[in-house]
Parts: sequence; structure tokens; C-alpha cells
Amino acid sequence: MNTKKILFVSYTAVLGGGELCLLDFAQAYRDSSEVLLLTDGALKNRLEDLEVKVKVLQASRSLADVKVSSGLASLKSIGDLWRLGKQIAQKSKDFDLIHANNQKGFVVSAIARLFGGAPVVWHLHDILTADIFSPTNRRIAVTLANWFATRVIVNSQATGEAFIAAGGKRQLLRTVYNGFSGEKFDCIDDRQTTLREELGIPRDRNLIGMFSRLSYWKGQHILLEAASTLPDVHVLLVGDALFGEAEYTEKLKNIAAQESLQGRVHWLGFRQDIPQLMKACDAIAHCSTAPEPFGRVIVEAQLAKRPAIATIGGGTNEIIENRITGLLIPPNDPRLLAEAMREVFSNRDFTSQMVETAYGQAKTKFSIPSVCMAFEMAIAGI
Ligand code: UDP
Ligand code: GLC
Repeated sequence: MNTKKILFVSYTAVLGGGELCLLDFAQAYRDSSEVLLLTDGALKNRLEDLEVKVKVLQASRSLADVKVSSGLASLKSIGDLWRLGKQIAQKSKDFDLIHANNQKGFVVSAIARLFGGAPVVWHLHDILTADIFSPTNRRIAVTLANWFATRVIVNSQATGEAFIAAGGKRQLLRTVYNGFSGEKFDCIDDRQTTLREELGIPRDRNLIGMFSRLSYWKGQHILLEAASTLPDVHVLLVGDALFGEAEYTEKLKNIAAQESLQGRVHWLGFRQDIPQLMKACDAIAHCSTAPEPFGRVIVEAQLAKRPAIATIGGGTNEIIENRITGLLIPPNDPRLLAEAMREVFSNRDFTSQMVETAYGQAKTKFSIPSVCMAFEMAIAGI
């Protein structure tokens, strides 16, 4: 039984990959721990469903306007950070450690430490590279980590290497992968036909799914471009624009409206029944245009026994061994993606061998018990 008393702090409460990852660790420590959310949202209900103690300590509007990507903060938001930091310091006196699950959560936790709060573990889910984070943001994040974090948990070795390259101390790092319950996939019938019937997809057509928030760097446009060259393929887009990005959604709708794709792109928005939906597909695409810190959807595809076609880089390389447990292709290349799709749909023996090997790996390497053990070791001695 896990007995460490952890105050989990999360700024955001939308259900992105980092928050879904938090659900598993918060559940594992629920008897002795609590989650503090700095905004309200769907994560709160999911935590309550799991009987995790959760509280919302509402951050103010000015804090919401601080851009993580640019590191810009107004004086008012600095005041808010200070106020929250003090509150968290006070609250953390009843806990062994603070676990900060995102960057803003980490900044207020670091301030809490300054005010005498419990030791801080930053769970870093992002690759701190110039693609997504400004130099100022990276400098602030890494300096705060070097000064105030007792440990930095990273979701892949790639995330850890980027942290070090940005100036972070190597000795702070511990790698803990995301964990998954294989049972959630195993209990679903392998042939899910209802959705395809509802969407009017003929039996002899292949369906490729993408399960990501709508965001430019997730690369839905690459999948649509690839599919436009394969007239027998239908595309299932599952996910919503979780962090703004309405413009990108608009751009995608325009691409999907072109004649070569008409009637072949199916939009489902944000869904919670991922195992069922994955099992309705013939393959799953991951198209990130920048290195993916971890890539939960790839492991989920493996557990659903569907071939994953993913872009090389970041954590993806730690999940897929090319042609053994999935296909790896360079990012931003619709032509190679179309070729990979053609291969998995036509070479059935190769594909079924690959999905079985991938399933076996995913069940062990990314099981909830194994990642919880890694988590326990990562916080040992604090
Ligand atoms: N997901 C979901 N509903 C959706 C789309 C995605 O629950 O409509 C889940 C998906 O199954 C995965 C997570 O969101 O577990 C996305 O995590 P990932 O690491 O792939 O990417 P992130 O969005 O965190 O960068
Ligand atoms: C972040 C990353 C994603 C990772 C998830 C869980 O959202 O973008 O790659 O899988 O966190 O660690």
C-alpha cells in the first residue's frame, strides 16, 4: 500500500494526457493524499469518481492569461502566484511532498517551497524545446527546478534529455512512464461494427483513427493530406481543441471539405470511450510535427491491438521499435504516411504479427503496477 502523503497540484483541469496520467497516480495514493486544482473542470469529476479527495483553489483570471509558451506574466498575475503559493505552503504542512503536474502548478509550488512548504516534485510532461517554449519560459522553468525541486519526474527519457539540454540538473531526474489498464481494452469485443454502420462506412473500406486534441503540432492536417491520396480510406478524428486553437480547427474543416476527401472524414469531438473507438478502427495514426514527450495514444493503440503509425522523435521512440511494435515515419511527410497506411492495410500477416508483439510489450512495460512502482521509487527518501 502507498502511504506517502502527497498533495497533488494541477493548474489545469481539462482532460489532456498529463491530467489522465495524474488520475492513475492520484488513485494509487488516494488513501493518504489529496488533489488541489487551480481551475475547475472535467478532471475534478473524474477524480471524484475514483474517490480521490479533490479541492479547487481557484486561480484568478490574470493567471489564466499568463502564456506558458512565452513566459510573460503581468504584475497582477505575479501577485496571484504569490497568494496561491502562500496558500499551498500552508496546506502542504500536512503532507510529505507536493507533486506539481504542470508548469503553472510547478511555479506556484516552487513559491510555496519558498514560503516553507513541503518538498516539491515536478512531474514534467513537456519537451522543453524551442519548437514550443520560448527561451524565457525555458529559463524560468529550469532555474526554478534547479533551485526548488527535490526531484523532477519526466514522462520519457527524451523529456529528460531536453530538460538537461535546457540547463536542468541531471541528478534531479527520474523517468516514470504513463501507465495503462490493459483490461479496459481486453474487455471490449475485437470487432466493433456499430460505429462504422452509424457513420455509413462500407465494410470493404479501411478506417484510420487519430485520437488527439486538435492542435497544429498534433498534425491532423498531415493525416488528412495523406488520406486524400487514398480513396478507399476513411478517417476518424477523435478529440477537441482543448487549449484554444479554434483557427486550426477551422483549417482542418477546410481541408476535409475538399472534394477528394468528401464523405470520408468523420469528426467525433472529445470522447471518453477510447478503447471502443480504437477497436472500430483498422489502424491508428500519430502525426505530431514536433517530438512527442510521451504519446499515450500510441500505447493505447497497442493495447487495442491496432497497428500504430507514429512519427519519429521524443518518447515515441521509447514506445515503438520500428516494424516490430509499430511503424515509425518522419514527421511532416504525408506521402510516407500514406505509404505506411497502404502497407498495414495490405500486408495483413506482417500487421497481425506486429500488433501481437506490441500488445505484449504494452501490457508489461506500461502496466499500472509497474509505473506505480517506478513512481514510488522516484519519490523514495523524500
Ligand atoms: N483522448 C481522450 N478523448 C479524446 C481524445 C483523446 O480521452 O477525445 C485521450 C487519449 O486517449 C490519450 C490522451 O487523451 O490518453 C492524449 O494523450 P497523449 O499523450 O497522446 O497526447 P497529449 O494530448 O497529452 O499531448
Ligand atoms: C503531455 C504530452 C504527451 C504525454 C502526456 C502524458 O500532454 O504532450 O506526450 O503523453 O503529457 O505524460
